[in-house]
Amino acid sequence: MTMASDYTEKIPNNVDLREDRRLQRALESWQPNFLNWWESMGPTLPTRDVYLRTAVNVGREGWAHFGHVPMRDYRWGIFLAERDPGRRIAFGEHKGEPAWQKVPGEYRADLQRLVVIQGDTEPASVEQQRNLGATAPSLYDLRNLFQVNVEEGRHLWAMVYLLHAYFGREGREEAEELLHRNSGSEDAPRILGAFNEETPDWLSFYMFTYFTDRDGKYQLGTLKESGFDPLSRTCEFMLKEEAHHMMVGTTGVDRVVARTAQVMVENDTDDVAALGVIPLNVIQKYLNFHYSVSLDLFGGETSTNVANYYTAGLKGRWLEERRKDDHRLTSDAMMIDTFSDGEIGQTEVSALVGLNSDLRHEYISDCQSGVNRWNKILAEAGLTQRLALPHIAFNRKVGAFGAIEASPGGEQLTADEWQRSKGQWLPTDVDKTHVRSLMQPVHERGKIAAWIAPPRNGINGKPFEYDYVHLA
Ligand SMILES: [Fe+2]
Ligand SMILES: [Fe+2]
Repeated sequence: MTMASDYTEKIPNNVDLREDRRLQRALESWQPNFLNWWESMGPTLPTRDVYLRTAVNVGREGWAHFGHVPMRDYRWGIFLAERDPGRRIAFGEHKGEPAWQKVPGEYRADLQRLVVIQGDTEPASVEQQRNLGATAPSLYDLRNLFQVNVEEGRHLWAMVYLLHAYFGREGREEAEELLHRNSGSEDAPRILGAFNEETPDWLSFYMFTYFTDRDGKYQLGTLKESGFDPLSRTCEFMLKEEAHHMMVGTTGVDRVVARTAQVMVENDTDDVAALGVIPLNVIQKYLNFHYSVSLDLFGGETSTNVANYYTAGLKGRWLEERRKDDHRLTSDAMMIDTFSDGEIGQTEVSALVGLNSDLRHEYISDCQSGVNRWNKILAEAGLTQRLALPHIAFNRKVGAFGAIEASPGGEQLTADEWQRSKGQWLPTDVDKTHVRSLMQPVHERGKIAAWIAPPRNGINGKPFEYDYVHLA
């Protein structure tokens, strides 16, 4: 059922938009608002064109086209993964029933909420990253930043399509709101906390794409299981684009760690701040921050809302179909993290209400694989220092640990102890000022800033020295 994407249309799509004039007109009237948003809240560095990947189809091979394009002319489009006509709901009380092609009336409000929350994160990250172009360490990195930005813009399109196509007038209003809320705004902030934090430097950007985009990957993974087939197909395709964002984060941190390790070894010291790189303990602090705020994105340890979403077939588990159980979970139990009687511990709850914890733990083990990889870089450089994920209770604002303070080792602290020690574990003003002082732009072909190692590979088979971006 692959539909060829039509690039002669104003809005490239594989959903046969021209067959539904009303929907097409509604989206065409949203389009200028989106472009205004992009101009006023998107990347601030003036560019002539950027070597970008554009989604042109959803098939296994050749879904992406690469070429230099002015960002304003990027072909933001609507792409859903191919429809499987025999698809059935894989979990919950509707398990085994055919997937829904329309929104079931009783689940309308919940599904709309899920789409809005996901949709709100997409433009938020573009807003958070808008000033980074001015300090890019290389043209390669600059291009990757813009690639992430245009694709997050496309993800906004993906969610706005669902709102317009399936949720009527309320959906259209929500689509407007997605452009009115802004990251960090006093009056109309983005919905989730981590998306109102700033991304002021490139170490933050790599940590964000590693830890916070990875939360996005897990959320999309649960929505891909949805019984509402258009949502499932939308998220499936978004996940393909997300893989590149993960790569930017993973290899970005790799390269910072590798360069720091190199300077540590060459000078036989940990104290490398004055040598123009980021000290390992500062990298650890940034990691602590981005990891802990991302853990909050998974919500409380228990949630009856999420239990209801699961039972209703709206939102599944990570890799639902690979789980070896009945996919209804009505009589299952699981362990969750708790804080009770002054102790950090675990307790058993019904599996349905513990689904946030299930997803958070899938995410944590994925994050651990990044840390292992960075530690391998340190070991190969001959260093004994290691990076680590902080304890799940560290620096949390949401859930069981929101009201307490804990060290990265998981030791509970008084408010005073926390105030006295937190500068050892989270970036201080001094750390941030140092990191920012290193952020001098390198916009020359084939050159790279001194605080980061060059990448092993370029993009789409092109070398690192390629002219990925033409500045205006
Ligand atoms: Fe996204
Ligand atoms: Fe992303």
